[in-house]
Amino acid sequence: MGSAPGEAARTRDPVREHFGTLDDGTRVDRWTLSNGGTRLRVLSYGGIVQTLEIPDRRGRPANVSLGFADLADYVAKSPYFGALIGRYGNRIAGARFTLDGTTYRLPANDGPNSLHGGDQGFDKRVWDVEPYRRGVDVGLTLRRVSPDGEMGYPGTLTTRVDYVLTARGDFRVDYAATTDRPTVVNLTNHTYFNLAGEGSGSVHDHRLRIDASRYTPVDATLIPTGRRATVSRTPFDFRHAKRIGVDLREGHEQILLGQGYDHNFVLDKGATASPEQVITVADPVSGRIMRIATTEPGVQFYSGNFLDGTLKGTSGRIYRQGDGFCLETQHFPDSPNQPGFPSTVLRPGETYRSSTVHSFGVR
Ligand code: BGC
Repeated sequence: MGSAPGEAARTRDPVREHFGTLDDGTRVDRWTLSNGGTRLRVLSYGGIVQTLEIPDRRGRPANVSLGFADLADYVAKSPYFGALIGRYGNRIAGARFTLDGTTYRLPANDGPNSLHGGDQGFDKRVWDVEPYRRGVDVGLTLRRVSPDGEMGYPGTLTTRVDYVLTARGDFRVDYAATTDRPTVVNLTNHTYFNLAGEGSGSVHDHRLRIDASRYTPVDATLIPTGRRATVSRTPFDFRHAKRIGVDLREGHEQILLGQGYDHNFVLDKGATASPEQVITVADPVSGRIMRIATTEPGVQFYSGNFLDGTLKGTSGRIYRQGDGFCLETQHFPDSPNQPGFPSTVLRPGETYRSSTVHSFGVR
């Protein structure tokens, strides 16, 4: 992704271009946002973060988000690269849940479970996109009305997602949703990061810190058992920064089940009204640092376990296991079936809100 150092520094109006056309003739746009040294490209299809360019310690930009160059690849085979996930991020056990005495059946698209909102989730929908420039911020408002019963979920869900680049180059995502019938909601973004640049190899030497003393262990189908286990003396202890790869081969039973990290971390701060910083990731080679602040009580740390050398990325390089990581801020997986977890129920008259801020720096 070639852009001269400093080129993204200026605040500019969002730029729209034609990215591709779906089989049914629907046009898909790509929007480019530039501000504070960060350049972000977003597709109207799936609200996908296609590229995210940030400078290294010498000011050289690289695209740190895994993805594809063409729409056809996103449609045919994307493991949710960069996507806006809904209505429910991560898994719902047995592809069903009961709310107010009624059982709702969802598409089972991950063994017996429903993953990331089903096989035609928000990541596969075309969103209405409206650009804006507000003071020193530039942004996109993505809107979509999900009809009652879509992918099995009750209620018409009116969803608005704002992607904002601030004057400091922070990338902020604000989610809001309302419903006309009781339902469940858990929205997130599924960007795979590699702070050394997508396609540059493994992220196992990145240093990660997560302010979480507990995580939610899973069963063989990656559904939480309901326990909140301590991270102490396990590979899940990221309370002090450590290399992503250092404990991956430890032989821990939970790491075997996920073929790596694929777990929800219980953030010590809990759910908060405004985003609080809970995660830091640093690549020692490029010097790039990403900090994540969120309102959410959990984060799914996924270490790119199922990247298996079968996908060719944006710049033509092949993605192999561990070539990217996801940090999906969220409510806990399977909450609709787990009375002990924070509730994901949304009722008419209420507004679902969630915000996550990615800020970038160097050391
Ligand atoms: C899930 C993984 C899944 C990945 C890509 C993550 O959020 O937890 O199990 O493979 O998304 O589909």
